[in-house]
Amino acid sequence: MEFYEALKARRSIRGFKPDPIPEAVLARVLEAVRIAPSACNLQPWKFLLVQSPAQRELVGSCYPRGEWLRQAPLIVVALGNRNQAWKRVDGTSAHVIDVSIAMEHLILAATAEGLGTCWICAFDQALLHAKLGLAPEWDVVAMTPVGYPQAEPRPFVRKELADLSARL
Ligand SMILES: Cc1cc2nc3c(=O)[nH]c(=O)nc-3n(C[C@H](O)[C@H](O)[C@H](O)COP(=O)(O)O)c2cc1C
Repeated sequence: MEFYEALKARRSIRGFKPDPIPEAVLARVLEAVRIAPSACNLQPWKFLLVQSPAQRELVGSCYPRGEWLRQAPLIVVALGNRNQAWKRVDGTSAHVIDVSIAMEHLILAATAEGLGTCWICAFDQALLHAKLGLAPEWDVVAMTPVGYPQAEPRPFVRKELADLSARL
């Protein structure tokens, strides 16, 4: 898929077919994640590929609104490590920015492969952190289901171009 087509084709998908994702497709999507930029190239991330029904149930239980999340054959949970990440002069860690860039690489690559995704942040972070048994320096930044779309996306609504940019 051409790059600008993929940008427009990406929508939040909230319903999935059970069809598995071919390994070759998954490998290309993960390569898109691997090459993502990060501050000082520190790559302070880990992406959990949650595929077994039991583990999808565990993750889904931390986001009770999303029955559709568990339908997807794969849930990717994006973790960021605040100790491994570059820090701004005020000491704040760039790990959430780094992980978000890599996650969007994943989402756009998945779109180009005909897969559906949906950024999810409205889960219980503390609960999922505990259920995954993560060390304190790891934050669960976001997750996304990945699978072949069954549901239609919601209507496309965006601000006008004039409202989003300012020329200085
Ligand atoms: C950082 C972030 C967090 C989001 N969290 C959720 C979420 O928890 N649940 C959900 O259903 N959608 C979530 N979304 C999806 C947005 O609602 C969606 O991107 C937006 O409404 C635009 O629709 P579109 O993605 O179909 O273009 C999130 C999106 C972003 C970027």
